Amino acid sequence: MLKCNDLINLFSVKRPRTMNTLDSITQRRTIHLFKSEKVPNSIIKKSLIAANSAPCHKSTYPWRFNIISRKTRELLFEEYYKIKYENKPNNQKKIDIEKKYFNPSDLIVVSQIINEGKIRRKEDYAACCCAIQNLMVYLRSENIYSKWTTGKTTDSEKVYSIVKIDCKIEEIIGFVWIGYAEKPNDMARPSVELFTRYK
Ligand SMILES: Cc1cc2nc3c(=O)[nH]c(=O)nc-3n(C[C@H](O)[C@H](O)[C@H](O)COP(=O)(O)O)c2cc1C
Repeated sequence: MLKCNDLINLFSVKRPRTMNTLDSITQRRTIHLFKSEKVPNSIIKKSLIAANSAPCHKSTYPWRFNIISRKTRELLFEEYYKIKYENKPNNQKKIDIEKKYFNPSDLIVVSQIINEGKIRRKEDYAACCCAIQNLMVYLRSENIYSKWTTGKTTDSEKVYSIVKIDCKIEEIIGFVWIGYAEKPNDMARPSVELFTRYK
């Protein structure tokens, strides 16, 4: 027989906060400042399942998710600092970059298997972008933020060798940084009406 306190406990159980799909999409924001708190591995695994559920034409499954260890992240940090500040060492910047590289809980380097056909390659790139978006939107539904970065680092031969990706076989699409937000970014979007045409 349930007692009064049991009933109170039953109804006050904290249910996991869930977001509907539109909220997860519209409230996904790129975060630049992450807390150093670790994201549970179970969530990272689910985010990869979300990524792997992206559409891809001709079942090419062109995405590869390279899970970067702390040791490898250290090598990437050294390389990034070298690329940016080799000729003008800057200790304050080094500290800022350290935070940027080591605070996020996880780093996933997403690469694309290179297809020689121009059209297929474009489709595969689109598929990889969908995969990254799926991953980021799922994470947002768990109140976890992300940042997709590209640039000189994702184009550097040394970086390819650090993450052990053969640039003749795969192309790096982006670094995806994952973690809890230190400072939310609620940058507003222009209205979709601005980009919609009725014909
Ligand atoms: C292909 C791609 C590359 C990006 N590269 C970078 C980057 O190198 N550094 C960065 O800070 N943000 C990068 N971003 C994030 C965008 O700057 C960000 O999405 C944009 O400012 C809009 O903000 P939001 O993501 O919060 O909506 C990239 C986004 C995409 C889609």
